[in-house]
Amino acid sequence: MKIIMGNWKSQKNSEQSLDWFETFGKLYSPEEGKLVIVAPPFTSLEVISGKFSPLPTNLFLAAQDVSPFPLGAYTGAVAANMLTGLTDYCLVGHSERRQYFSETHQHVANKVDLLLEQQITPVVCIDESYAKDQINALEQNQLEKLIIAYEPLEAIGSGQPQAPEEISEVVASVGKLLPRNVPILYGGSVNDNNFASILNIEGVSGVLVGGASLDPEKFALICGKIS
Ligand code: PGA
Repeated sequence: MKIIMGNWKSQKNSEQSLDWFETFGKLYSPEEGKLVIVAPPFTSLEVISGKFSPLPTNLFLAAQDVSPFPLGAYTGAVAANMLTGLTDYCLVGHSERRQYFSETHQHVANKVDLLLEQQITPVVCIDESYAKDQINALEQNQLEKLIIAYEPLEAIGSGQPQAPEEISEVVASVGKLLPRNVPILYGGSVNDNNFASILNIEGVSGVLVGGASLDPEKFALICGKIS
């Protein structure tokens, strides 16, 4: 099973999100063994589910983040409980969250816990330098139920993915810190020209695509087929 995940980051309003799904829906043809996950902003999740429910086979929505707190007096926060029924997956600990929003390992662990309580699968992002600490901050029973996205910081948004040998080396060493069968995605400048070779790297279970996922045609190509 290969996982193709798109992360729109802080882009697209509701109308633009609906347009994206409209176009993507015409191009996307589900492939056996491929799981496609799209992470629009919070504000678009409900409108997308409202208009396109049920989503095509093997296509799922994800949130890009979640509150590290449960429901309660936490102004502005979106709790895991509120995502129930809207998303099946949620990104956690993206390097942009860790960098610009000062997220700590503890925040990430809390988010993972709260998501798992809601049966939402966390996609936990790690980078090269801190991978060990980032993984060790999570408990074994959490690790068994999540997806890992390995994203080397210098490759994100640079147009230059990490070299395949390096990806395969890091993925192998990260894999040793995880329970068996935890999927490891690679993210960082994946696009419609390089995705196939990255998906072929041993140990890589999928890709996390930022910039190239904003264009429904490019993303449909990465998802395998264009009809
Ligand atoms: P990029 O972003 O594909 O634009 O490099 C990847 C990510 O940050 O998830």
